[in-house]
Amino acid sequence: DEALRELLLGRIVDVPDYPKPGVVFKDITPLLADPEAFTALTEAFAALCERHRVDKIVGLEARGFILAAPVAVRAGIGFVPVRKAGKLPGATLRQAYDLEYGTAEIEIHAEALGRGERVLVIDDVLATGGTAEASLQLIRRAGAEVAGVAVLMELGFLDGRARLADALGGAPLDALIRV
Ligand code: PRP
Ligand code: MG
Repeated sequence: DEALRELLLGRIVDVPDYPKPGVVFKDITPLLADPEAFTALTEAFAALCERHRVDKIVGLEARGFILAAPVAVRAGIGFVPVRKAGKLPGATLRQAYDLEYGTAEIEIHAEALGRGERVLVIDDVLATGGTAEASLQLIRRAGAEVAGVAVLMELGFLDGRARLADALGGAPLDALIRV
């Protein structure tokens, strides 16, 4: 709702020309430092878990970890990390993707998700959608079902929503704030 949106938006700081000229970085650290805002954010994500009948939460390294872990605890469901390549010790699935600034590879433990489990991806920002798209590809390759993607903030002008459409396959993309 509008009150939640205002509370959250008021705790996100724009940092121009970071990490590169022309990029406006969305700094969520003031939100994390405010227990009222962080709690409200966690509750909003947890409500989505119930609405979408989520069995497991995937958090995207690194900022997605911070947001997703308390949601998993609050909702009483398991947390699975999607990590930057080379950080997980077990057998993994790996996916390459393009970033707003650079390229990267992410991984998930191959056995972390059960067949047919409904998985919600949580991250802080949807920009080009490359990171979220790669995570959905990993979830499908792991044999699980996509319950949706939930982000704190969607940068509408980069049209990540359109890029995600195929990988979502009709599952919802929920953004608490759209700019
Ligand atoms: C940022 C942000 C999202 C992603 C969004 O993460 O936290 O995960 O970029 O961009 P996209 O939609 O264009 O893929 P980043 O890779 O900078 O790293 P961090 O979360 O580890 O800080
Ligand atoms: Mg990130």
